Amino acid sequence: MNAGPHQLEATSAESFADALKPGTELLHGQFRIEKFLNAGGFGMTYLARDSLDRIVVIKECFPSSMCCRNNGRVMARSRQHQAEFDAVVKHFGAEARRLSKLQHPHIVGIHQVFEDNLTAYMALDFVRGRDLLDTIEDPKMKLHPRDVKGILLRCLDAVHYIHTNDVLHRDISPDNILIDGKGNPVLIDFGAAKEEATRASRALSALHVVKDGYSPHEFYIAGSTQDASSDLYSLGATFYHVLTGEAPPDSQARVSAIAADRPDPYRPLAGNFPQFEDAFLHAIDKALSVFPPDRIQSAREWIELVDTERRRSAALQQAELDRQIEISISKLVRETNQAVEADIQAQKAKQVAERKEAQRLQKLVQEQQRKRKKTLDELAMLDDETFQEEQAQASRASAERSAQRAHGAPPNSTGSPQPKKRSLLSRVLPFGLLRGTFRSGGRSDYL
Ligand SMILES: Nc1ncnc2c1ncn2[C@@H]1O[C@H](COP(=O)(O)OP(=O)(O)OP(=O)(O)O)[C@@H](O)[C@H]1O
Ligand SMILES: [Mg+2]
Repeated sequence: MNAGPHQLEATSAESFADALKPGTELLHGQFRIEKFLNAGGFGMTYLARDSLDRIVVIKECFPSSMCCRNNGRVMARSRQHQAEFDAVVKHFGAEARRLSKLQHPHIVGIHQVFEDNLTAYMALDFVRGRDLLDTIEDPKMKLHPRDVKGILLRCLDAVHYIHTNDVLHRDISPDNILIDGKGNPVLIDFGAAKEEATRASRALSALHVVKDGYSPHEFYIAGSTQDASSDLYSLGATFYHVLTGEAPPDSQARVSAIAADRPDPYRPLAGNFPQFEDAFLHAIDKALSVFPPDRIQSAREWIELVDTERRRSAALQQAELDRQIEISISKLVRETNQAVEADIQAQKAKQVAERKEAQRLQKLVQEQQRKRKKTLDELAMLDDETFQEEQAQASRASAERSAQRAHGAPPNSTGSPQPKKRSLLSRVLPFGLLRGTFRSGGRSDYL
């Protein structure tokens, strides 16, 4: 793969015989080629204009090791190459369609995927700027550590986005990161289709799908497991290059050294670049670990390791959240206590009221009893008087009768004894009881 072409000053069409000539129309005149930009192992890149006269970049599926151009058409080099070539074209189109669904400020936009000349094409947004490789190789360009950190964090945002959409880039390197006019990075040249092509052809070297220094060792092994940490290895290598001016030793050489019990030829960044924070340098070293389990596992993890600002604001947000939770909990506790207290008070008030009512009723009963006793005492007294009166009357009558007998007179006009007057109380209570009770004095057993 050709690393670091100068955008818009790229190799001329004449220097690559198979490239489409300026003025060539594609898709029934919807696109017109302006300029050949670059040829990679996998395809050719052109500057073109669309039907609205806007500048676009066209990528043509042209795996040169297995195809050639004939009258504009792209054909397999031989019958043996046909199946491989067909598979690559098919995967190019499928991946382009998949990538066209990704939308992120730091990922190049794909706005059309089509077939022409018996191969596949994609039309990309044109990014005005230069690639990161050009930028770091330009002696007049000196990236400030703050800019380097800003570019890395934005790349990590983009990588996090593609990984959460189940896409691996597989070809992250300084020449595949464009820096636009505002200094923002844009990821280009996704290599997902290349992985499929690799499977189809098993001819890794023919397609140049690995890039020494940037590719982790698993990219050199057909059918190996590749995951987020593989892309992060390549991103680490890219920023190693930004800081040191060269790519790190290639991963195969590192693996061989380790296997032969020799020291890893990789020289860590940590401790060697005082203008960068230690956490920033350590993170790149970690991403560049030879063995996948030792690497940074996700773009999010890397962001959290280096973005002190984001970490600080996340910590502040968490602290604010904790404070809000604390306030809510103490409010809840206060309200519960108040409710319990109010309940206790209400219970107490209820008990006091009940006690008062009981006392009032008791007094009422006592008053009733007292009144009743008084009435009964009065009645008993009256009854006594009546009794005495009756006794007196009876003795008087007896005396009279004795006197009359002595004088020979009839006992009375009727001759029959006077009926006894019954007392008021004796009408209420049985006589003997009344007498036995009240006359023997003291309290009545009925009270
Ligand atoms: N969207 C774009 N805007 C501006 N320039 C672009 C854009 N896409 C690609 N280029 C330019 O074309 C060059 C080659 O493109 P790209 O990296 O996609 O393919 P490659 O590396 O040559 O090939 P391969 O796809 O085989 O890896 C880039 O280095 C860049 O200079
Ligand atoms: Mg490229």
